[in-house]
Amino acid sequence: MNITGTELRNFTSYKELNLVPDSPGLLLLVGGNGCGKSTVIEGICWALHGQMLRSKRPPSSATTTARLSFEAQGKHWLVERKRYSSKTELTLSQDGQDVTGQTPTDTQAKINAVVGDRDLFIATRIFSKDLMARFAVATDKERKAMLEALLGLSRFDVALERCRAELAKLRGSLSKAETRLQERQSMLARQQALLLQVEGPVEDHEFLEAEHKVALAEYQAEQDAWSDVEQKHRDAYTAWVKADKAASLAKVELEAEMSKASQLKAKLARVKANKSCPTCLREMDGALSLIAQYEAAELAAIQKAIDAADLKAMDTADDAMVAERASEATAAARAGVKQPDRARADALKERWHRARQEALEVGRRKAEVNDTIREVQVVETEAVALRDDEKVLLAAERVLGLRGARTLLLGRALGRLEDAANAALQKLDLPIQIGVSGTTELKSKKEVDAISITVTGAGAGDYDMGSAGERARVDVGLLMGLSALAGTTGFIAFDEVFDALDTEGASKVAEYLGELSKDRQVLVVSHHQDLRAQFPRGRVMEAVKVNDVSRLEQR
Ligand SMILES: Nc1ncnc2c1ncn2[C@@H]1O[C@H](COP(=O)(O)OP(=O)(O)O)[C@@H](O)[C@H]1O
Ligand SMILES: [Mg+2]
Repeated sequence: MNITGTELRNFTSYKELNLVPDSPGLLLLVGGNGCGKSTVIEGICWALHGQMLRSKRPPSSATTTARLSFEAQGKHWLVERKRYSSKTELTLSQDGQDVTGQTPTDTQAKINAVVGDRDLFIATRIFSKDLMARFAVATDKERKAMLEALLGLSRFDVALERCRAELAKLRGSLSKAETRLQERQSMLARQQALLLQVEGPVEDHEFLEAEHKVALAEYQAEQDAWSDVEQKHRDAYTAWVKADKAASLAKVELEAEMSKASQLKAKLARVKANKSCPTCLREMDGALSLIAQYEAAELAAIQKAIDAADLKAMDTADDAMVAERASEATAAARAGVKQPDRARADALKERWHRARQEALEVGRRKAEVNDTIREVQVVETEAVALRDDEKVLLAAERVLGLRGARTLLLGRALGRLEDAANAALQKLDLPIQIGVSGTTELKSKKEVDAISITVTGAGAGDYDMGSAGERARVDVGLLMGLSALAGTTGFIAFDEVFDALDTEGASKVAEYLGELSKDRQVLVVSHHQDLRAQFPRGRVMEAVKVNDVSRLEQR
């Protein structure tokens, strides 16, 4: 970056400032205390980043304007920053074309992309007594942050943060998947145990069904045979009962006729013996024989009836006996026939139904087990994929982490910084060597990178123990190192760098800066008027202040 023009209006002590520095080349800005030398550098910083070095904004009631034109990345840029009644306006043009962003923040981002952000710009281009060598006096942590910003390593932080967030999310999913897997696996174990229980003793229900059909047909054949023999016996028995009843009746009738006959016989005997009336017992005459004759005729009739009744009684008794034999025969036949029994068929039916139920149950359990096996496989696949992703993210975390690529890059950068700083120091002709080293320490269980600077060859070997002059030269060396590390070329400013240096040190630094200005744009600010002699090839300007208003004059 080379500045091609600086214009300031109402900027602190300046009403108006116009400066066109050479590039490459050296501009020495001299002038008394408070005349406005440092303000020139402040103006450049404010124009580019909207912040000054000592305070945030320029104090002014009137409109403050800074216009800075410069060349960078092979293009010509113009930044114009205006501030009035606490409002800021920012425009940017590139090769004469307006490229101002939608908002000042957008525009600032574009500027930063060209010249670096404020910290990087200051760390690599501005050496000011007020800021001191920021790198040298920074804490380890600040140094690391500066170097990381310089090297663009903060990208790793963003990536690492994202990686860790991903990892946390993934672990959440993984633990959920693992819980689900465990649940499914224990469910599977339970279901398999249940299946084993029901699966063992199950009978073949189809075979039992066929057996049942056979048994049922057998039973029905038995049943038919039995009903037949039973019906026959029932008929024979009924016939016997009927014949028996008829025989009894005939017997009773015979007995009645016989008793009638015996009574008549007794009456007839009495008539014959007493010749008296068998009814009134009075003496009978000739009529008596008539009565006897009548009785005898009746007796004969009764005797005929008795004979008939006797015949009938004998016949019916014979019939009854025949019927009894027949009934006995059917009873015997029935005894020879097996009584029908459904029990076997029923038992088979029950077994068949039970077996079918059990088979259905086994089928259900098997389906259940198979479903769960499939579920387990799905969750397992998911968990495996998640574990693979976790491995990848863990690897990424290692690469992005403190001990990963960042450490490697930082380590390399430290080496380059050391080399560049020592090259500068060699030119400053000091028997001093800077060592810049990075160490990773475990502090309260957290990894902390420490970047320490050691100085060897002069004094105690510790930067803080060096003399102010030694430190000033180390600071210049470090600035040059950082500048080289960032690949900075062009504009570089040194504000009151000579204060702490002795004559010899001052001439060495001046010689170095003169050398530098052969290919860089160097701005040197100092209140020492006699420094002019040190920069024979440089341009000299003087800041003068009249009535509290600063202006620059050519010398
Ligand atoms: N941010 C600021 N706010 C107020 N006044 C400032 C600011 N910066 C510089 N000045 C004033 O501008 C004048 C020039 O200061 P400066 O450029 O630092 O002087 P020097 O020539 O000693 O470097 C001084 O009077 C100083 O008080
Ligand atoms: Mg100053």
